Amino acid sequence: MKDNLQKLKQDILQKLSEVKDGSALRNLEIKTLGRKGELTEMLRKINTLGLEEKKIVGKLANDIKLELAGKFRAAAEVLEGERKNEFIDLTLPGEKTKRGHLHPVTILENELSELFSSLGFSVLSGPELESDYYNFEALNIPADHPARDMQDTFYVARTGAELTRADADGADSNLLLRTHTSPMQVRAMEKYGAPLRVIIPGRCFRSEATDARHEHTFYQLEGLMVDKNISFTDLKGVLEAVVRRLYGAETKLRMRPKFYPFVEPGANFEATCFLCQGRGCRVCKNSGWLEIGGSGMVHPKVLAAGRIDPKAYQGFAFGFGLTRLAMLKYGINDIRLFNSGDLRFLEQF
Ligand code: PHE
Repeated sequence: MKDNLQKLKQDILQKLSEVKDGSALRNLEIKTLGRKGELTEMLRKINTLGLEEKKIVGKLANDIKLELAGKFRAAAEVLEGERKNEFIDLTLPGEKTKRGHLHPVTILENELSELFSSLGFSVLSGPELESDYYNFEALNIPADHPARDMQDTFYVARTGAELTRADADGADSNLLLRTHTSPMQVRAMEKYGAPLRVIIPGRCFRSEATDARHEHTFYQLEGLMVDKNISFTDLKGVLEAVVRRLYGAETKLRMRPKFYPFVEPGANFEATCFLCQGRGCRVCKNSGWLEIGGSGMVHPKVLAAGRIDPKAYQGFAFGFGLTRLAMLKYGINDIRLFNSGDLRFLEQF
């Protein structure tokens, strides 16, 4: 028993000499001298000894206990002193916190939302998972129309439960990932009626074989204005404001006829190349013009689908690729970088 006590004492002193901070010291004290500590347990056993032995061992144990308690107190004082003497230099520069930043497409989206808000347009968002009806049918693209080939998409299968619910609602049961932001034209007309001024930025999807210029996921921005006495000149004026905002006050706009089933007449729109100012360069493939997007006067069938009387109201619509604009603006030559999540790319903005 005596030997055990001495051994325990040495053991505790050894551990004490290795303690480096207050909390380690406290833990060690609890483990050894505490109510259920190693030394305390041993002291309890003394009661089982004979009277003579009890006297001797008892005294030894008590001495050890007092000595250790003293050593613990001394160690505590030393540690406390060290803590007080510790010098903190408040003038040292702090660690820099890394700040995130906006994605290039978001920067453009914000810039354009601001422009359109100043022109009295509201900013809407719509579902990325669309019905065949809003994405195609309501936009005058019937199931057998060849225009569907221009926008091949991903169709989404439904589970049995969803099918029943949709059918009960009388809703369209063919779901797909929207191929453009145009389905929001009819949704906005149905919800808000005429007169109407909205833009809809958002993510779109197409079943593409991806390469440097084609991506299955990209962003568009749609615009729609419906009112009495709206004409093509209103459309041109708004688009001019857009390209000037994007590429500077000197930028010119060009519109040429193009077919889209949901507008009549339809036109693409182009801006003078921001790099060569229209003289011709690598970016504009020597044409001096950059195609931005599609536009036109809203087709009467589309107004009717949106429950707006085409005899009383007219409107214009346009749509362009935000991702494509970001490529032009920042000189990005591979569209796949946008969704890559590659920090070497993203940290450049
Ligand atoms: N939705 C068309 C596209 O994605 C663009 C467009 C929008 C054209 C509105 C005309 C009017 O190609």
